Amino acid sequence: MVFAHRGSSASLPEHTLAAYLRAIEEGADGLECDVRLSRDGHLVCVHDRRLERTSNGRGRVSAYTLAELERLDYGSWHTGAGAGDDVPPDPDRTRLLTLDTLLGAVRDAGREIELLIETKHPTRSGSAVERRLVTLLHRYGLADPRPGDPVRTTVMSFSPLAVRQVHRLAPRLSTVLLMDLLPPVVRRGRLPYGARIAGPSVKLLNTRPGLVPALHAAGNRVYVWTVNDEDALDLALARGVDGIITDRPAMVLDRLGR
Ligand code: G3P
Ligand code: CA
Repeated sequence: MVFAHRGSSASLPEHTLAAYLRAIEEGADGLECDVRLSRDGHLVCVHDRRLERTSNGRGRVSAYTLAELERLDYGSWHTGAGAGDDVPPDPDRTRLLTLDTLLGAVRDAGREIELLIETKHPTRSGSAVERRLVTLLHRYGLADPRPGDPVRTTVMSFSPLAVRQVHRLAPRLSTVLLMDLLPPVVRRGRLPYGARIAGPSVKLLNTRPGLVPALHAAGNRVYVWTVNDEDALDLALARGVDGIITDRPAMVLDRLGR
């Protein structure tokens, strides 16, 4: 499985609708996005706690209402391929993306897609992010998945507590425990709180050669992030991972001969 990390984010501004539509067009099997809460409780797709890096705003995302966040530009900072004067203005490259809009776009794509949704800083906001997320997924009929559903959603977090919370709220929803170091709760490849997918960094694959076999032996799948160059891809393929999360889905699909 090839997942577009924050959309096709090497080419277009991360977390914009344009970046996700490009990834779908390129043939990615799935998409990854980060969500956090606006001051008035809306789930918005923004990676950083603060606005400065990816918008023309300042301060914490959580300090602003959705209406205030929607007034900002989330695309003009981007200098990757695809930006520039020769590109006609496209609001999909600059507008704030809400998770609601992204879910609609994924549903309208009309093909099989897995959407990985990472909740950010869940412990600071209590479990509000997870509660809002599960409520929204229920609205799309995605919190209680059935075999054959074209759109599948998987919730990811570095926080075992957030994974536990999602499992309590929606026991049939698939979850990923992300890891940049090996968390103490993961022993002999077994994951806690109903998670059946591990999300190690590519660095962790390098330092822990036995990790993927142990996770597989315990019945888990492995989605690795963020695989953006040939060396990282070679390592991920050599370890036999099940999913590759990348800013460059077209490059990875091409290498896989798809
Ligand atoms: O897909 C997991 C990966 O996105 C975690 O790191 O910082 O890019 O959210 P980050
Ligand atoms: Ca993420």
